[in-house]
Amino acid sequence: MTTKRRGRGYEGWLRFIYIEDAYKRHAYEKRCSQLLVIGDSPVIRTAREELGHALTALLGKQPRVNGGVEAGSDFKGIIAGVRGSDPLLEVSTLPVDFRLEESGEDGYTIYAEESGPIQIVAASDNGVLYGIYHLLRLLQTGQSIEKVLIRERSVNGLRMLDHWDNMDGTIERGYAGNSIFFEDNRFVADMTRIGDYVRLLASVGINAVAINNVNVHREETKLITEHFLPDVAKVAELFGAYGIRLYLSVNYASTIEIGGLDTADPLHPDVAAWWSAKAEEIYRFVPTFGGFVVKADSEFRPGPFTYGRNHADGANMLADALDPFGGNVIWRCFVYNCLQDWRDRSTDRARAAYDHFKPLDGQFRDNVLLQIKNGPMDFQVREPVSPLFGGLAETNQLLELQITQEYTGQQRHLCYLVPQWKEVLEFDTFARGEGSTVASAASGALFGRKLGGIAAVSNVGNDDCWTGHPLAGANLYGFARLAWNPSLGADEIAAEWTAMTFGNDPEVNRTITEMLLDSLSIYESYTAPLGVGWMVNPNHHYGPNVDGYEYSKWGTYHFADCNGIGVDRTVRSGTGYSRQYTTRQFEKYESLEQCPDELLLFFHHVPYTHILHSGKTVIQHIYDTRFEGAERAALLIARWESIKADVHEEIYQLIWDRLNEQAEHAKEWRDMLNTYFFRKSGIADTLGRKIY
Ligand code: GCU
Repeated sequence: MTTKRRGRGYEGWLRFIYIEDAYKRHAYEKRCSQLLVIGDSPVIRTAREELGHALTALLGKQPRVNGGVEAGSDFKGIIAGVRGSDPLLEVSTLPVDFRLEESGEDGYTIYAEESGPIQIVAASDNGVLYGIYHLLRLLQTGQSIEKVLIRERSVNGLRMLDHWDNMDGTIERGYAGNSIFFEDNRFVADMTRIGDYVRLLASVGINAVAINNVNVHREETKLITEHFLPDVAKVAELFGAYGIRLYLSVNYASTIEIGGLDTADPLHPDVAAWWSAKAEEIYRFVPTFGGFVVKADSEFRPGPFTYGRNHADGANMLADALDPFGGNVIWRCFVYNCLQDWRDRSTDRARAAYDHFKPLDGQFRDNVLLQIKNGPMDFQVREPVSPLFGGLAETNQLLELQITQEYTGQQRHLCYLVPQWKEVLEFDTFARGEGSTVASAASGALFGRKLGGIAAVSNVGNDDCWTGHPLAGANLYGFARLAWNPSLGADEIAAEWTAMTFGNDPEVNRTITEMLLDSLSIYESYTAPLGVGWMVNPNHHYGPNVDGYEYSKWGTYHFADCNGIGVDRTVRSGTGYSRQYTTRQFEKYESLEQCPDELLLFFHHVPYTHILHSGKTVIQHIYDTRFEGAERAALLIARWESIKADVHEEIYQLIWDRLNEQAEHAKEWRDMLNTYFFRKSGIADTLGRKIY
């Protein structure tokens, strides 16, 4: 339950501030002074407590909760529960036909007439909790609750966060302090913070969390042994009270590392038997265990390839072990040759996931989900959508996004990622004709699959405000809201998060919302141009280095020379990657004329003098956008300063410092890139601006 730590953004968007406006407060009070939350499961108890605490804080008065009130036809207050658990919760009393059976596991209705109770009727305990958080959101954002009819269902069954936390407390690609789960190769002793975290997550509908890094090292391999399972169970219980299932990343070679076998061959009976016994043991400790996340045959992690087997063999063996207990295997598709020779032009990393997994479509068990990164490379600020989303029709899919800002400013730069994710979700694969969006492929709806959803790499650490940059909280919040409902707008999510986090001052809201919404295009305009990606310092990936990955083994090249730049991925003259898309998209990307500007250099190698749809040459576009990008980054500071008086001092300063660092750093990007391309091309800026 909520924390004593205050200030510096610890409460995130769950800030329940006393409502000063007496008129509004009284209006709420009239409807919210008695609560009846039906049931007694851990999730229901959480829901009841959350509602009671939040209302006490918002209204300055403790509501009467259960015991003190009685259900009856004249009950006026908030009544919440699973449909059928109380006569007052009969959906037949609702004015419109709303069948909860169709609302998915987690759906709910909030219904209030001008008089009578506010009813929250849900299909499950989780739905009750989500409905209660929804009602609280209405109060936090100052909306009327006089007459309400809200019907919600979650579009995605799985709404998941992946932590890349190591047991020594470090976080791979973490920019907000250390792990909230681990320290010194064990679980943290004080788990209060974990409880506060899951509370934030449940309030936006997250229902699954993997707590350890996909790169499972020696210590983490032991998470599935009796040495750590009692601690895993404790965390799982905390999660369970908020309707969240715990997942673990596992080492594919566990049978060798901790199992005493000399093989991890998925078709070897001893290997399968070991995993079956292991699954049984895990579920003995953790009955609600969600399942395994597996990074196999990827970036030096072990996998079935060693034994001449394929990914379906590996995933299915684990799936069979988990199946009797209702567990899932989340098998990652981030598989490519990471020992590439930069001289070799025939290998294309972008092709790899599709080339590996498309031929296996239909061979995976029903409790396997293939987790696919949004793009074919690796979470760049701009890349096309992975063609696997249209390619796999008979396999459960899970879209993987990255909230932690590895390539998008590492939570030192402001970069609100929801607009990028919206583009991914709305991308039309045309796999079943027009309207076959990634959102519908990932949820399972497009191909009639039962399992599906969205996962994302968390951006959270033990930093006071959770996310390093306080405004990066909008990405965590935004991800979860989109996972619940991909059709929400980037702007409405930004405004909602801002109001909940910073209060309802219209000027503050407008300023922060607009800063958020501009930030991705600002970031994109001073970093790698036109979809080509990378150009960052190797290893840590922060800051400009145009050739940082040009001669590396990672398959990440831009091929800039004195004549031009870009990767030819066409069928006609390049790697043929473009053909992995269905015809409509293939034709668009294959054609130099039709390819959208922002992805031009991902698909084509062109001279610097090539004219874009915008009418500019590539080289002039590079100069113009770098200059504009750095300028717009600097302007963010003034926008932030305009609301200084209305923002908590410490938060104000924290953000101001980061915006200043961003503005300086954006100049570095501008000058490095401009100078590099001026030297390569020998073509001057038509506006004669300073290029070094
Ligand atoms: C990126 C990232 C790695 C991570 C990998 C993955 O390459 O830089 O740190 O392990 O993605 O998704 O597995």
